Amino acid sequence: MRRKNLKGSLAVFPGSFDPITNGHLDIVDRGLGVFDRVRMTILMNPEKQPLFSVEERVAIIRETFRGDPRVEVDTFTGLLVDYAEKVGASVIIRGIRAISDFEYEFQMALMNRRLNPQIETVFMMPAESYSYVSSRLVKEVFQLGGRVSDLVPPVVEKRLSEKCGTPLKPGRARRKK
Ligand code: PNS
Repeated sequence: MRRKNLKGSLAVFPGSFDPITNGHLDIVDRGLGVFDRVRMTILMNPEKQPLFSVEERVAIIRETFRGDPRVEVDTFTGLLVDYAEKVGASVIIRGIRAISDFEYEFQMALMNRRLNPQIETVFMMPAESYSYVSSRLVKEVFQLGGRVSDLVPPVVEKRLSEKCGTPLKPGRARRKK
């Protein structure tokens, strides 16, 4: 079995991150438990119509992890494995929330392995409380007037409010059990 020295290790965590959610933050945190540095890298995809531009997403991630040099942010085009090789990362991190994520992730991981067997995909599971959280649902809920403050970092909520012209909802007091 090939063994990798994890000292000084860099893992890339690719995605659309439109926008990042607390589920993504949870995965970054878990990634830092295993690797020295995690680089969130945003796919520049001209075919997608994102809510936040790539520049805005980079700025959001920078602000969220400001002060933590272990978390980096970047963008990429083309093949992910080529990007990973170029930046010296031998690991790709992907989060799996539920079995429904698995088929697509499994296909991508095997395709990436075929393209470059030196790069390993590592799946990480976020905390159960984030298993239903996705960027798509966060945007939908916010745009329809729902509260997302427990689901995204504060900077995302602020940016959503600016982008959609909707005032922030005051936090609801938790019901006593
Ligand atoms: O957050 P997402 O949208 O699920 O992220 C998907 C992403 C960016 C990881 C995936 O689309 C990707 O890696 N695209 C780069 C193109 C590529 O390398 N394709 C071949 C591997 S299947």
